[in-house]
Amino acid sequence: MKNKWLSLLIALCLLPAAGRAVDFVNLTPQPKQMSVKEGALPLTEKFTVCTNKLPDSLAVEAQRFVAAVNAATGLDARVKNRARKALVSMERYEGNDLNAEGYRLDVTPRGVTVQARTSTGFFYAFQTLKKLLPAGVALGKPTPGIATYSLPLVSIVDEPRFAHRGFMLDVARHFFTVEQVKKMIDLMAVYKMNRFHWHLSDDQGWRVEIKKWPRLTSVGSIAPNSFQWDWERGSYYTNAPYGPYFYTQDQLRDVVAYAKERHIEIIPEIDMPGHFVAAMNAYPEFSCTPDAEHNGWLAWGVSTDVMNVANPDAVQFARDILSEIMDVFPYEYVHIGGDECPTTAWESNAQCQEKMKQLGLRHARELQSHFIKDMADFVKLRGRKLIVWNEAITAPHADVELIRQTGATVMCWIGERAAAKKATELGLDNILTPYYFYYINRKQQQDADWMTVAGDGKDDLKRTYNYVPITAETDTADYKHFRGVQGTFWTEHVNDNDLLEYLALPRLMAVAEAGWSPQSAKSFDSFVRRMQADTTLLDLGGYRYSPHYLKPAPPRPAKAAGKQ
Ligand code: ACM
Repeated sequence: MKNKWLSLLIALCLLPAAGRAVDFVNLTPQPKQMSVKEGALPLTEKFTVCTNKLPDSLAVEAQRFVAAVNAATGLDARVKNRARKALVSMERYEGNDLNAEGYRLDVTPRGVTVQARTSTGFFYAFQTLKKLLPAGVALGKPTPGIATYSLPLVSIVDEPRFAHRGFMLDVARHFFTVEQVKKMIDLMAVYKMNRFHWHLSDDQGWRVEIKKWPRLTSVGSIAPNSFQWDWERGSYYTNAPYGPYFYTQDQLRDVVAYAKERHIEIIPEIDMPGHFVAAMNAYPEFSCTPDAEHNGWLAWGVSTDVMNVANPDAVQFARDILSEIMDVFPYEYVHIGGDECPTTAWESNAQCQEKMKQLGLRHARELQSHFIKDMADFVKLRGRKLIVWNEAITAPHADVELIRQTGATVMCWIGERAAAKKATELGLDNILTPYYFYYINRKQQQDADWMTVAGDGKDDLKRTYNYVPITAETDTADYKHFRGVQGTFWTEHVNDNDLLEYLALPRLMAVAEAGWSPQSAKSFDSFVRRMQADTTLLDLGGYRYSPHYLKPAPPRPAKAAGKQ
């Protein structure tokens, strides 16, 4: 009885008093500048978003905003070209103090003004407006228990800190459907991330239709067995075929269009010449040992079975693949991997030895540098550029002068700061996705009270959040080559969406905030509070997430508890 009265008293004290200063605006990533006033702007049952005759390419963002708001709230918002009384008004931003993705947003008791220079700027302004409304609005879904809608009175001047705010998903080790991929893209858009790096091939599976080489999917997309993990059983092999699992080119184009509406560019990755076993399972003639078995891998690790880069037919095979990849993905960058490529197969292959002699190479690693240069020259014919993992410049004996000539962007994951520094010294752009902080497939922690999942790691949310991409030691002259940050998700141990989301969320939002917000606007305590509030959004969207920092620990499943 006593406790009941005490709880009531505490609850009454915590009730927000009318007119009290607003101390919490739930916006992630944190805007560059934001001021908040007391009060709110109610959304009326019918309201107008006026485009002020802006061209259709910009006005379309208002249409999408209105569609999401109406679906989520049941209100009747309309877009008009001209209106005497509009609740939301779009204006072209004439200043030049914001980058192309930037926007201004003013919510006053009289209405809302959104200003931007580009469609992307307007898109982010409307994403912010949606995020300021009840949780479901950001996803275009109703929020149960909410019947009226109002906006806090904010004045925001915002632009992203970095151009690349990425998420990588490996669909080669385990496959994720178009619907699952779109679900992650939806979340990227909520948190203003703009690059989806799609890791489409690896030793364990080939996931993209290449019309000229059909065995890549008819053979390369099937594994004879599959490693799985689930909440009840832990780790096990199914002892059953896995696949065929791949995307048709039409499906890929559909995802490209879906992401484009959300201002997300897709960076396709075809990993070569290492991590290429699935392709050589389909076409053994392009390996260094054409007569041997090249069964797709079932576990994890690094295979010594790599493409024969001295075979002109294998090099043409790689060009054919990239050619179709460029047909499907319209963007500037194509990622060709280049990580974890042992040279042992080349060292004992007559064709590779011969090529080394011809070119006067002293180390087999230089063959890889020549291969990357060849691919860079090929994609350049269509105005494209490469992204490569950092081994392209950091592996001992790599020919960095050749890589410098490619103009490739270097994705830095292992020894990331030294790799980024080296890329910068070569005049190459770089992106940070550090293994120990931003590999968001790694386990979040190893606390015995928490569920154990497959794989390794203990990079909890705080560690990921507190990684500082540009440190005080970074030379400001180097900034121009620093493109941004990325959360990277490998799926050797992750076979379903449930586990993917549990591991990735909310660390992905920590990376999103590092990519968008100025370092000075960041605070882990504030982030946790915002993520706690966003559990409503995640629950409404059917996302699973790690409750660490957000909610009390869930009970351990019986099997895992019994193991202790
Ligand atoms: C990588 O993690 N092998 C890029």
